[in-house]
Amino acid sequence: MDYTNMAAYYDVIMTSGYYDYPGIVDSLLSHPPIQNVIEIGCGTGLILEEIAKREPSMRLKGIDLTQAMLDIANQRLKVYSNIELSQQNVVDFDLGEQYDVAFSYGGVWYFVIDGDQEPFMVSHIADHDLNVLGLKQLALHLKSGSQLLLGIQGPHFNYDKTISNGMTYAQEIIPTDIGFIKHYFLLDKSKEVMAQTVNYRTYTFSEAKALLGVHGIEYVSKDAGSKFLRFQKN
Ligand SMILES: C[S@@+](CC[C@H](N)C(=O)[O-])C[C@H]1O[C@@H](n2cnc3c(N)ncnc32)[C@H](O)[C@@H]1O
Repeated sequence: MDYTNMAAYYDVIMTSGYYDYPGIVDSLLSHPPIQNVIEIGCGTGLILEEIAKREPSMRLKGIDLTQAMLDIANQRLKVYSNIELSQQNVVDFDLGEQYDVAFSYGGVWYFVIDGDQEPFMVSHIADHDLNVLGLKQLALHLKSGSQLLLGIQGPHFNYDKTISNGMTYAQEIIPTDIGFIKHYFLLDKSKEVMAQTVNYRTYTFSEAKALLGVHGIEYVSKDAGSKFLRFQKN
């Protein structure tokens, strides 16, 4: 799913409290030793920056479909020689390398946990066959014994709020047969300055475990900080 429309406003929305970036990185780095890491759907590089600040010698790779997001990431991360970015669609990427940790946070795949209910997996890719292809490519990039960390989010709901630049961020969720549609808007007073719609596919926890299990990727646990569900590749 292309994020070009949102790219210019992404950082101001996200750093107005949408994600807890330091907490995400605490969780990511909580199971050393880790030498090389890949982020799937790295966006504007906010998580990679936080990792690089703490771990200047760790080899970091970020892939993302949307060049406009990567342009911002390149600018942000140019001071870090240990980070490489690449424009790739996860459904057919092949970097010829395997990693100790692969993670995605709000990126291509993530989990939603609503209270005591079972987690369900959300995909930015609406087509099922493309999800199958993407997970196959992802598995090819994981070393034996490596970890796959998929971010956890709370339930999505309709709301609007004023963000740090004074604009209003709003989102609206509409259930569909395959998952849900999410409309994102940014309003300056009453003028719409950004609108984006994502058609998400969802999978039950058992469907997600089966999709990953085919590639020897097994569920391990929820991380202590509840930022990620942790999987391991056999
Ligand atoms: C909500 S952003 C998350 C960015 C980043 N992980 C963060 O925490 O700020 C989702 C990102 O996933 C990327 N994405 C969506 N579908 C993709 C695909 N098929 N292949 C690669 N990246 C994709 C989008 O371009 C977007 O930058």
